[in-house]
Amino acid sequence: MADDMKIRVLGSAAGGGFPQWNCNCPNCRGVRDGTVSATPRTQSSIAVSSDGKGWVLFNASPDLPLQLRAFPALQPGRALRDSAIVAVVLVDAQLDHTLGLLTLREGKPLQVWCTDRVHAELTEQHPIFSILDHYCGVDRQRIPVEPNAGFTIPGLPDIQLAAVAVQGNAPPYSPRRDRPEPGDNIGLFLRDSRSDKTLFYAPGLGSIEPVVRPFLERADVLLVDGTFWHEDELIRLGVSKRSARQMGHLPQSGEGGMLEALEGLAAARKILIHINNTNPALDEASPERERLRSSGVELAYDGMELEI
Ligand code: MLT
Ligand code: MN
Ligand code: ZN
Repeated sequence: MADDMKIRVLGSAAGGGFPQWNCNCPNCRGVRDGTVSATPRTQSSIAVSSDGKGWVLFNASPDLPLQLRAFPALQPGRALRDSAIVAVVLVDAQLDHTLGLLTLREGKPLQVWCTDRVHAELTEQHPIFSILDHYCGVDRQRIPVEPNAGFTIPGLPDIQLAAVAVQGNAPPYSPRRDRPEPGDNIGLFLRDSRSDKTLFYAPGLGSIEPVVRPFLERADVLLVDGTFWHEDELIRLGVSKRSARQMGHLPQSGEGGMLEALEGLAAARKILIHINNTNPALDEASPERERLRSSGVELAYDGMELEI
């Protein structure tokens, strides 16, 4: 409806996408050769609008060009050079959430919202803001992570936002890798003041700290970390020595895992997003996918639309 908060999942996969270009894990091989029943997915990003005209990107993935083509609302064609993208919000400085900014370099100065920690990364270790200064320029806006500090985005009327510092990890290139600080990773709580409906978006959520719990409990719709099913998912495949939690992602299974955390929450929709290509739940015929179905938990897919 006209007065609802609109959410479009542009990309539902974790870094690398699904299938990942160099991966022959059972899922990637299977989706490529058609032996596994699963849907390909691009890398992590959503778009949100309160009027269906101006859209805010939450993260800008390396797959943004494909995502723009798949969602015509982002190109309304009102002028020779035009876009419906009014701002970009970043939850962290990871490559899968920031490389798409380069794709937007031909446009007007880009309004980008991020924390001070993310801003430091994007001007120092991974100086994408400094590079963009030579193209469109960046109009950087600060996301506060102090408790009870909200913010609003001019191009997103009627929506109040609040950020909560979540436990994750700093990017692999960061000097704070394995020593993250508050503001390296955030979750975002969005409230539509017209309807009082709420969304909590946290594609990277390494653990559920007491500060995060009220947002999970209050949200009508949850879009949360669906990266890994198993704590040792990449270790058992032999592609990494790191556990899910060490990478900053709470796995779905196991004690204290995401499924346990979601149980008992009142949210009308509980949706996993930022799904890694190794996650067995991507296989629609898997017992893991059946477990999600029976728990009332959904897997986001590219092109998924929500109106809340
Ligand atoms: C993550 O979500 O942990 C990162 O995006 C991993 C990566 O950079 O590939
Ligand atoms: Mn990622
Ligand atoms: Zn794979």
